[in-house]
Amino acid sequence: MSKPIKVAVIYGSVRNGRLCDAVAGWVADRVEARADYTLDVIDPLAEGLTDLRGTDGATEKAIAARLSRSDAFIVVTPEYNHSFPAALKHFIDGFNEPWHAKPVAFVSYGGLSGGSRAVEQLRQIFAELHATTIRQVVSFPNVWAHFDPQHRWRDMERGDRNLNVLLTQLRWWASALRDARAGADYRTVS
Ligand SMILES: Cc1cc2nc3c(=O)[nH]c(=O)nc-3n(C[C@H](O)[C@H](O)[C@H](O)COP(=O)(O)O)c2cc1C
Repeated sequence: MSKPIKVAVIYGSVRNGRLCDAVAGWVADRVEARADYTLDVIDPLAEGLTDLRGTDGATEKAIAARLSRSDAFIVVTPEYNHSFPAALKHFIDGFNEPWHAKPVAFVSYGGLSGGSRAVEQLRQIFAELHATTIRQVVSFPNVWAHFDPQHRWRDMERGDRNLNVLLTQLRWWASALRDARAGADYRTVS
């Protein structure tokens, strides 16, 4: 097998009591269980990067380096008012080159739509950042129904199946683009 893909799982919600801990935690667990990936987890709340004021600059530099080292991203996002959370936009906007020429996959959740409107809008943002988004999405409509009151998953069989497909497709893109970046510097392509 080729070198493992370095993937960063990115938290989309910074809300108190967020379900994102449970959803992103599940994604991270499943990624860790696979030999074809190595995992980084980036939580803008834990890093203090929830708005564009940023920090003293050192945190941004450290996160930029982690994003730059990553071959692929999985953004775990809820839907807020038919879009994605403002804090996630701030986080994405805080970086530019680290996103370039890399694939982005989504795990989304929410009410009726399962976060699909958040995902469709994120595709536009990542196109501007020279990233490619992959079609396969794992989404959880009526996300509350998937948890008990302690935010423990009830049944992950369908989720596990869908996430495995997503991870296999993401690996294809990440591997192809990693080879392409190694062959030619994307910044010089015009
Ligand atoms: C401000 C706000 C707006 C929301 N708007 C939508 C919406 O437009 N569509 C939807 O399906 N769910 C909506 N929801 C439900 C969220 O997707 C759901 O509560 C989810 O758990 C929020 O993610 P979090 O707990 O990780 O922050 C909204 C929730 C909040 C807090």
